Amino acid sequence: MRHAWFISFEGIDGAGKSTHIEGLAQWFKSRGHVVTLTREPGGTPLAEKFRELALHESMDPLTEALLMFAARREHLINVIEPALKRGEVVLCDRFTDATFAYQGGGRGFDWNVLKLLEKMVQQVPASRLRQPDLTIWFDLPPAVAAERLSTARVPDKFESQPQSFFQAVRDAYAKRMQEAPSRFAQIHADQSRDAVWADVLKAVEMAYAK
Ligand code: TYD
Repeated sequence: MRHAWFISFEGIDGAGKSTHIEGLAQWFKSRGHVVTLTREPGGTPLAEKFRELALHESMDPLTEALLMFAARREHLINVIEPALKRGEVVLCDRFTDATFAYQGGGRGFDWNVLKLLEKMVQQVPASRLRQPDLTIWFDLPPAVAAERLSTARVPDKFESQPQSFFQAVRDAYAKRMQEAPSRFAQIHADQSRDAVWADVLKAVEMAYAK
C-alpha cells in the first residue's frame, strides 16, 4: 500500500470541491491511512491570518501573490512536510495552481514571476521542489458556478468577481494542466454529485495504481 501522498484540489469558486474532499478523507481513513486535511491559504494559525487579509482586504497584485506564497511557505514547512514525513495522506484544498489561476489568470499577474516564487517557496530541505502527487481539478463552466454561488453565503473578495474573471481563472488552470499533464486529473464538475464522486474515485484509484 502506498503511504505518504499529497493531493491538492482545485477549481473556480462554486465548483463543489468541498464535499468530495471530505468524502475522500473518509475513503482514505477507511483504508487505514492517517489523513491530514488542510487548506490554502491557511492551515497554520499564522497562515490563517494571512488568509483573512488575502480574502478580505484589497491590495496590490504583487502583495497579494506574495501573501499567498508566504502563507504557503508557513503551511508547507509546518504542516505538509511533517505530515508527509510521517507517511500520511495530505489532502489540501487548493495549493499553488490556485495562485497561478487566481493571481496569474484572474489578476493578470506575471506568470514567470509566479514560477520564480514557486521555486523559492516549494524548495524543501531535501532539496527538491515539492509538488502535489496528484491535483484534482474540478472544472466547471463559470456560468454554472455563478448560478451555484448566487444562493451561497456572503461572497469574499474573489467570489464577488465577475464571470470574466472566473473564465480567466479557469483558462489558467487549463494552462497549468498543460504544463504538468501527468499530475492533473480534470473532473467535469457539471454533472450530478454522484457522477462527480465516481470520477474523483476513478482518478485517485488510477493514480494509486501507478
Ligand atoms: P476557497 O478555497 O474557495 O474556500 P471557501 O470554500 O472557504 O470559500 O477560498 C479561497 C479563495 O482564495 C478562493 O477564492 C481562491 C483564493 N485563492 C487565491 O486567490 N490564490 C491562492 O493561491 C489560493 C490558495 C486561493
